[in-house]
Amino acid sequence: MQTSEKTLMRALAGESLPVPPVWMMRQAGRYLPEYRATRAQAGSFLELCYNPELAAEVTLQPIRRYGFDASILFADILLVPQALGADLWFVEGEGPRLSTITSAEDYAKLKPIEDIHETLAPVYETVRILSRALPQETTLIGFAGAPWTVATYMIAGRGTKDQGPARKLMYGDTGTFDRLMDKISDATAEYLIAQIEAGAEVVKLFDSWAGALPGAVFDKYAVQPARKIIERIHAVHPHVPVIGFPRQAGEKVIPFVEATGVAACGIDTSVDPAWAAKNLQPLTCVQGNLDPMLLVTGGDALVRSVKETAAAFADGPYIFNLGHGITPDADPANVDVMLKALRC
Ligand code: CP3
Repeated sequence: MQTSEKTLMRALAGESLPVPPVWMMRQAGRYLPEYRATRAQAGSFLELCYNPELAAEVTLQPIRRYGFDASILFADILLVPQALGADLWFVEGEGPRLSTITSAEDYAKLKPIEDIHETLAPVYETVRILSRALPQETTLIGFAGAPWTVATYMIAGRGTKDQGPARKLMYGDTGTFDRLMDKISDATAEYLIAQIEAGAEVVKLFDSWAGALPGAVFDKYAVQPARKIIERIHAVHPHVPVIGFPRQAGEKVIPFVEATGVAACGIDTSVDPAWAAKNLQPLTCVQGNLDPMLLVTGGDALVRSVKETAAAFADGPYIFNLGHGITPDADPANVDVMLKALRC
């Protein structure tokens, strides 16, 4: 099958389809027993990310089980900081930890951009395995974190409630902050281009903490970095669609879409589908935004929400997805319920 005939690619090209293409953020994850088994076999989450055979295996598991229209590469947004020289580890039950960047001296210790491929080579190998192994109708999505979201982890050394350490550096040492943002942007463009060259058909930029950026700097630190990364990708691969996900950016998704050239915009759970259908969908394909909690609770509320969400977006280009990643306590059987409600 030609890339251009796949349902996800058609939606990204602006087509409205009678049944929208569907995939889920974190579709390879701890809610699946087969994921937990492969992760145990790999040893740890990071060892899984850097093991191409096993990373490809967990990427394929939700495709085998559910037949989603797209498959997202199994990796993590924090591999880029690690490739730039940050220490990275995961604390079980808590989340990521990294060495911190709070000064010009810390920044100076990072590696040059050219060096990232040494660390990231196994990820490109995962992409190559997947592009051979996926069913012909399934689109392969590569991804990276957007510079602001990645910077929040590199500066604080962990996830934070209000991204305070990153905002502090932004105001307190703007020069260092801007150099760090530029470096992450350059690395991200190189990383995504390498994923495309290994076989990714679409790439997605996750700006999970976009909502924490003060309005006055949203353009500078969310819109412009995404615009520049997309421009660099399109300079070498003009037809590869990019999905943006400026999470919790509210109405600022409109200027984000207008200025960046994204082929689709992911929307989080807080966005009213009727508002997005009216204001965002005329500008771009919309992706989202079922509440992941419904996959924990299931039942009539799940069926009703799936149908209502899809109906709101039925008149324009649309990709069905969640408003954020599926959680470990979700019931795998509820994903079948979701797909049945959507597809018939
Ligand atoms: O969506 C997918 O299935 C593709 C793989 C993927 C993962 N992380 C795997 C993962 C993607 C696209 C990500 C993106 C990511 N990683 C983001 C942006 C999206 C979002 O969720 O907001 C962020 C902020 C991260 C950083 C990160 N990775 C955190 C904060 C955590 C810990 C929280 C948690 O859920 O445990 C991770 C770990 C992580 N990344 C897991 C998975 C499947 C769980 C790890 C495990 O198996 O223990």
